[in-house]
Amino acid sequence: MKLDILSNTFLRDKYLLLELRAPEEFVKPQPGQFLHLRIEDSSDPLLRRPLSVHDAVWPSSKTGSRKPVIRVLYEVVGKGTSLLSEKRPLTQVDALGPLGNGFDLGKILRAGQVYIVAGGMGVAPLFFLAKTICESQKAKGKRQKIVVLIGGRNKDHIVREKEFKDLGCEVHVATEDGSKGFKGRVTELLNSFLLKAADSRPPTLCACGPKLMLAAVAGIAQQKGLAAQVSLEEFMGCGLGACLGCVILTTRGYRRICHDGPVFDASEVIWTE
Ligand SMILES: Cc1cc2nc3c(=O)[nH]c(=O)nc-3n(C[C@H](O)[C@H](O)[C@H](O)COP(=O)(O)OP(=O)(O)OC[C@H]3O[C@@H](n4cnc5c(N)ncnc54)[C@H](O)[C@@H]3O)c2cc1C
Ligand code: FES
Repeated sequence: MKLDILSNTFLRDKYLLLELRAPEEFVKPQPGQFLHLRIEDSSDPLLRRPLSVHDAVWPSSKTGSRKPVIRVLYEVVGKGTSLLSEKRPLTQVDALGPLGNGFDLGKILRAGQVYIVAGGMGVAPLFFLAKTICESQKAKGKRQKIVVLIGGRNKDHIVREKEFKDLGCEVHVATEDGSKGFKGRVTELLNSFLLKAADSRPPTLCACGPKLMLAAVAGIAQQKGLAAQVSLEEFMGCGLGACLGCVILTTRGYRRICHDGPVFDASEVIWTE
């Protein structure tokens, strides 16, 4: 499906926000789902690139348009994302999606509070998750505490802090070099918050980031008896569950990240490597 590029803007350094206008028939995405983008019409790069839905604005009487707007937040890391960063408005990009399963919102909304843990570009799907939780709570007249912990190598790797705050989330930052917020890993910060929150209603954890970070979140959740959902990343071929290029081992056998995930219950993933 062709999506119109409305804007493709550098937020800073290697981080961009791509804003797309989708056709009316585009299926409403769930937080955690992703688009599989064909960057060029040529065969290089041959494979599509998976990028999470960072935000989705659905048509309403307020928006004045019948077409949804989808936002994607991405970091330039290689050829595909570099070519994507050169795309200009008034051109189009071909997208499959929304793909994958998304976070289990029912479970999250039943929890006492939510801890959202983002490592690096993990903020991309988690912002849409936080926004959706806030909107669901508002619609039900409820208020659930959302604590967002964002981790990165240094302050230049921390993005979307303000946007999470604007949603009403409590936001804390961890940098490995201490250039902003807590000095250390975001999972250490998570541990210290959970110690303080030990007397309150048990939170549920939602995380996205590098695999080692997610394994650490899963370990913390297991140790403290907390529910945790993690969004995994892997190199993808088809993105549709056909090529088996993205499998991981779980307690239910091999599962495809693109089709059975990318969001998994942390306790079902077998964390090897
Ligand atoms: C479900 C899913 C959702 C994603 N959402 C986002 C997002 O919202 N924003 C974002 O910036 N990135 C996201 N990614 C990662 C993104 O797909 C890769 O960064 C991108 O495909 C790299 O393409 P490239 O051609 O620029 O880099 P390549 O030239 O293919 O690779 C450059 C470097 O990036 C690493 N890399 C490439 N692909 C991946 C991958 N899938 N996982 C881990 N490392 C990789 C390679 O090891 C290499 O070091 C997501 C990945 C998945 C699987
Ligand atoms: S990328 Fe083909 S099965 Fe997942």
